[in-house]
Amino acid sequence: MTSKLDQCYNIDDLRLLAKKRLPRAMYDYIAGFAEDGVCGERNRSAFYHYEFVPRMLRDVSDVDTSTTVLGESIDFPVILAPTALSRLFHHQGEWAVAAAASKMNTIYSLSTLSSVSIEKVTEFEGPKWFQIYVYKDRSLVKEFIDRARTAGYRALCLTVDAAVSGNREQDLRNGFTVPPQPSFKTVVETLTHPQWLWHHFTSPTVTTANVSGERMAGKNDTNSFLSYVNQQLTPTVTWSDVEWMRSQWDGPLVIKGLMSVEDARMAARMGADGIVLSNHGGRQLDHAAATLDLLPQMVDQVGAQLEIIIDSGIRRGTDVAKALALGAKACMVGRPYLYGLSAGGEAGVLRALQLFQQEFHRTLQLLGCPSVAELDSSYLRMAKQGVDFETGSAVQQPTSLQVV
Ligand SMILES: Cc1cc2nc3c(=O)[nH]c(=O)nc-3n(C[C@H](O)[C@H](O)[C@H](O)COP(=O)(O)O)c2cc1C
Repeated sequence: MTSKLDQCYNIDDLRLLAKKRLPRAMYDYIAGFAEDGVCGERNRSAFYHYEFVPRMLRDVSDVDTSTTVLGESIDFPVILAPTALSRLFHHQGEWAVAAAASKMNTIYSLSTLSSVSIEKVTEFEGPKWFQIYVYKDRSLVKEFIDRARTAGYRALCLTVDAAVSGNREQDLRNGFTVPPQPSFKTVVETLTHPQWLWHHFTSPTVTTANVSGERMAGKNDTNSFLSYVNQQLTPTVTWSDVEWMRSQWDGPLVIKGLMSVEDARMAARMGADGIVLSNHGGRQLDHAAATLDLLPQMVDQVGAQLEIIIDSGIRRGTDVAKALALGAKACMVGRPYLYGLSAGGEAGVLRALQLFQQEFHRTLQLLGCPSVAELDSSYLRMAKQGVDFETGSAVQQPTSLQVV
């Protein structure tokens, strides 16, 4: 008998299954964008600006999807983005995500705001990064760094695009705030998802598991933990804090959330090893540019100094192929694996990763491209109805790309 997960043939099928299984407020929290969702829409439409020019009559019986990111060998160029509080969506939370990432031999970047602790996640083998913010309380940041080092995390991923939280109006409507303000409507809606509700109430309280109980003065409820970490975010963070972070960690440092070439140059000067070209999946600044549109220039200007990872809106193996052809080292995905997690725990995350790997593998075969190393801009051109990124106007004639 085929399971519901087996009948998910792409990431959007997983999204629809997640939508059925989650209370509305939880689903909206994952799927939602800031304000009018313009940035979210652009993230997707940017992939339509490019079309493939495949090569034929090449032996593609044995294409190689593996690659290395910051010296780490992974089986395919899709890595798991940090996302907060995964146990809200499935009782196994980050534990299930780490298990699936380990099986698929790819990198999992654990969020500072994870609901399973730094140490517990390393029960599963496989490369892990730890995502961190510059918090007001430096002793908390130092504690996180020490724990990540001791637990064997390979890289630190510093997120810099969350000086304040994005304006996600759907979350406000749903009372999905810190602290939560559930309405009669959202309570009734939650009651109509008994399976989720059962697991939620029979599992340990969802907290930001990396914050030790001592800092919480005996309080152990979700709200107290969330309020505490929320108070730790500060809009005063500058490049001098990045310099400080660099001095605390001697392993690879990745800065996540940069979009301008000038900022990326600064990151390189500060000793970063890589960046995640990211607009936080359209969850922070609405009307921010699509990351794929910024990629060619970023690669051209700083690709020799920094490994460039891209996220925001990646949903298909063809998207991954386009990003790599334009010079990205790998793609990060957030919502796709959260949809998998919500739809079916570890098996669901595994399904999401398998879909990416299978689609990417098939794309390489159909492109006539034998390996990631040989995937370059010669396989792409701008689509006829594409947009000229210099002028913002529509491009009528296809243009060949001059991108490394
Ligand atoms: C529910 C959710 C929670 C997130 N939490 C974090 C987080 O704790 N830290 C962080 O750096 N980024 C966080 N992000 C952003 C992701 O790391 C990533 O940049 C984004 O999801 C990529 O876009 P995509 O969802 O279209 O793949 C979160 C994203 C989602 C959807």
